[in-house]
Amino acid sequence: MTGLQGRHFLSTLDFSVDEVTGLVDLALDLKRSRRSAALERMVSVLLFFNPSVRTRVSCEAAMVRYGGSAITIQPGKDTWNFEAGEGVVMDGNTQEHVRELAPVLSRMANFIGIRKCELITVGNDKATVTGSYPELARDFFMHRLAEFSEVPVINLESNRFHPMQGLADMATMRERFPEPRGTKYVLTWAWHPKSLPVATPHSQLLSAADLGMDVTVLRPEGWSLEPAVLAAARARAESRGGSVRETDDIAAAYRGAKVVCAKAWGSLDYYGRFDEEVRRKQPLRADWIVDEAKMARTDDAIFMHCLPVRRNVVVADGVLDSRRGVVVDEAENRVWTAAAVFAALGGRVR
Ligand code: CP
Repeated sequence: MTGLQGRHFLSTLDFSVDEVTGLVDLALDLKRSRRSAALERMVSVLLFFNPSVRTRVSCEAAMVRYGGSAITIQPGKDTWNFEAGEGVVMDGNTQEHVRELAPVLSRMANFIGIRKCELITVGNDKATVTGSYPELARDFFMHRLAEFSEVPVINLESNRFHPMQGLADMATMRERFPEPRGTKYVLTWAWHPKSLPVATPHSQLLSAADLGMDVTVLRPEGWSLEPAVLAAARARAESRGGSVRETDDIAAAYRGAKVVCAKAWGSLDYYGRFDEEVRRKQPLRADWIVDEAKMARTDDAIFMHCLPVRRNVVVADGVLDSRRGVVVDEAENRVWTAAAVFAALGGRVR
């Protein structure tokens, strides 16, 4: 692919629909060995502020598969603590500023990947955030890293977007629906004991929109996605002959669907007030699992999820383990889409 060299990959919204679908075409060609990715002697440095299985392994595997290498570091655990603010007097817990970090890594590596999402917790940790959603959605640190980087910065999940997941979802749907335009796609909110980020559902919504699908966002009142992202998705879907609508009507949403993609996400209305959100969503638990009865209303839909998934909370075993469950294929496509991103974007930032 030409024209993408030296660009950051922070959101698919920074790319035209043609550029995004071109990356998916490249990924599927790499998977079928129709093209190769020239990553020999290239290095990716991957900053993981949060845990990961798929994102980390797919990026590392993509680099190694095509002759490059990847170095994963966990900021704050095996590095200095990083600072991004302007004019900060660094007499506290941060030792290194992105003004040095980004150009230094740029001299040592060809790509900088970053996963930094304030709302990801592990185990029994309670979700806590220090800012409002609009503040966190600025993804300040990631954008500062990109500002001072001389090589492409790749978003491996921020507060607002997870574009690498979006690309893998597009590839997975393109494999099953070579012409997905007008195909009914349902992105359903799922009950979950925790408040999770909106980054993945935002990028999944955009992935279906960019394919020109007829997208239904199924969510309870109070769990709408960000209005600006919904508007962008609607415009991009309509430019491709598709559509985007929101509903809380579960039965109608599933009817005729060819794709059901489930994801739990936290309410933007209750952002930062997670105890209140948990109380409010408790009565929703029984109705918002993806189960066999709901899938029976679809037009033999496939079931997608980004993983990891909580079995029998988000989705019933009977759906996940059936021939409709494509989550492992979806995860595998993370490798091919990561390789496509590295191959297409490699080059100095202009
Ligand atoms: N889907 C996804 O990003 O998985 P990980 O959190 O394991 O990277």
